[in-house]
Amino acid sequence: MPEVSIETVDRVQILRITRPDKKNALTEAIYKRLTDALEAGDRSRNIAAHVFMGSDGVFSAGNDISEFLALSKDSGTLGEETVRFIRALPAVGKPMIAAVDGLAVGIGTTLLLHCDLAYASPAASLRTPFLNLGIVPEAGSSLLMPRRIGYARAFQMLCLGDAMTAEEAREAGLFNAVVSASDLEVTALDAARRLAAKPPEALAAARRLMRGDPAEVVARIDAEIAEFRRRLASPEVREAFEAFLEKRPADFSRPDRG
Ligand code: COA
Repeated sequence: MPEVSIETVDRVQILRITRPDKKNALTEAIYKRLTDALEAGDRSRNIAAHVFMGSDGVFSAGNDISEFLALSKDSGTLGEETVRFIRALPAVGKPMIAAVDGLAVGIGTTLLLHCDLAYASPAASLRTPFLNLGIVPEAGSSLLMPRRIGYARAFQMLCLGDAMTAEEAREAGLFNAVVSASDLEVTALDAARRLAAKPPEALAAARRLMRGDPAEVVARIDAEIAEFRRRLASPEVREAFEAFLEKRPADFSRPDRG
């Protein structure tokens, strides 16, 4: 099975992550397909909006930790396609909509900050365990999350690592609505179709005005990546990721582990 399925329905490009055996964790290959599709969709007159979906009751478990660990050991930084995807998000010119059922971890959550509309099922759960992994918030979330939900709630989520339920996230302003799992995709697609019927130039202009300067977000993304790079060289990060792969709790108390 391909790990991303891409189809266009009524001028809406559906980007569905289909890697359920790994909880839809995102690899370099998946990031590449997503970025290519967003860029091609932005150029195409036949596409008016992009919709992100997960599969099998999971949105995404975030970055693939095994691949990330291997890549970071070689290069000391994030994978090339991971960076390309994250930096492309603020520049996407057509509306992005997310339909979140189940877990949305790491980039599964921070991606939502770049979407214009987001819908959840009652089972949606947002988690950003960056600190537990010894790393820092990514995808511009250090800028966009406090802006969206206020500093106190953003800090609780990004630094304390508290999960948010679908209803809490809706109340905080991260979701437009929580609907039943069976209505979720229809609701997201319906919103996308309504956007597809709007005058495209006015819609693009409204988005540009509402979203502000993409260069500001890209600059923050680059600052996050620079910090991330420094963090990767730390024993804390090695311990956190190895603990995940060895299925044991991380131990940051030993000096050689941070
Ligand atoms: N990267 C790589 N593999 C992942 C993954 C990730 N982010 N998330 C899950 N997987 C893999 C697991 O290793 C497991 O693989 P295996 O069957 O070969 O052992 C499989 O997906 C199923 O995951 P499992 O942990 O058994 O499912 P669960 O329902 O008990 O827990 C999660 C699901 C998402 C809560 C848990 O897997 C998790 O915490 N993942 C890491 C999330 C994360 O920290 N992401 C990075 C954020 S920056």
